[in-house]
Amino acid sequence: MIENYKESFEKIRSAGIIAAGALDEVSKIIRPGLRTEEIDKICYEYIKDHRAYSAPLFYRGFPKSCCTSTNHVVCHGIPSNKILKEGDIINVDVTAIKDNWHGDTSRTFEIGEVSVKAKKLVKTTYEALMKAIEIIKEDIHLGDIGATIQNHVETEGFSVVQDFCGHGIGQSFHEEPNILHYGKKGTGQKIKAGMIFTIEPMINIGNYETKTLNDGWTAVTKDKSLSAQFEHTIGVTKDGYEIFTLSKK
Ligand code: MF3
Ligand code: CO
Ligand code: CO
Repeated sequence: MIENYKESFEKIRSAGIIAAGALDEVSKIIRPGLRTEEIDKICYEYIKDHRAYSAPLFYRGFPKSCCTSTNHVVCHGIPSNKILKEGDIINVDVTAIKDNWHGDTSRTFEIGEVSVKAKKLVKTTYEALMKAIEIIKEDIHLGDIGATIQNHVETEGFSVVQDFCGHGIGQSFHEEPNILHYGKKGTGQKIKAGMIFTIEPMINIGNYETKTLNDGWTAVTKDKSLSAQFEHTIGVTKDGYEIFTLSKK
């Protein structure tokens, strides 16, 4: 166990609530016709109004306050003048820094009516995240998390992206350990009470392979199939977990 984690949990809680709150704001206005840079503006303003900072802004040269990843974009899409249309799916990923602690969360939104297949992808991705969270407690293996996600996703006929993973988080944005979204039960390090990390599976309808576009950020599925993602920041406790980035709604 990591001693005295109460204090760190208390601090990251505030960051998590702000990140989730920004996504709640986005959920109120997201619709066909909206530009992805308008989503960025909402995130930027919401985070600033809560006296926090956006972690993505200027992170390794990233130009915006959130990531907006539409349809076959797997992650790290850059908000732009791109207009959302009926039937799109879009992941919005927000990370707030409050009092030096990071809260990182993302949701995939459906724009108007989406296809049956897209709906199933979004639902399965959310279920995979929540099933993985539900097994969290001290002394499970990291591989148990990956196996839970992979089993569920592959049972539904989808594939797990391997090029990106969850991560330890706290007073820095990305730290040890890597949280793989695939793997085998009983493998990898055991997790300890007090650890804080993200789980953020990216799930594709087609093949798992990705490539990064020339902007150096936008990751897309190689086969152009749809991709969805959900992310929470989680703390490990003796007999379970705490989700720091739950929606208040
Ligand atoms: N929020 C992403 C994650 O879940 C990281 C985004 S880095 C950025 O780890 F620079 F693209 F914003
Ligand atoms: Co993350
Ligand atoms: Co994120």
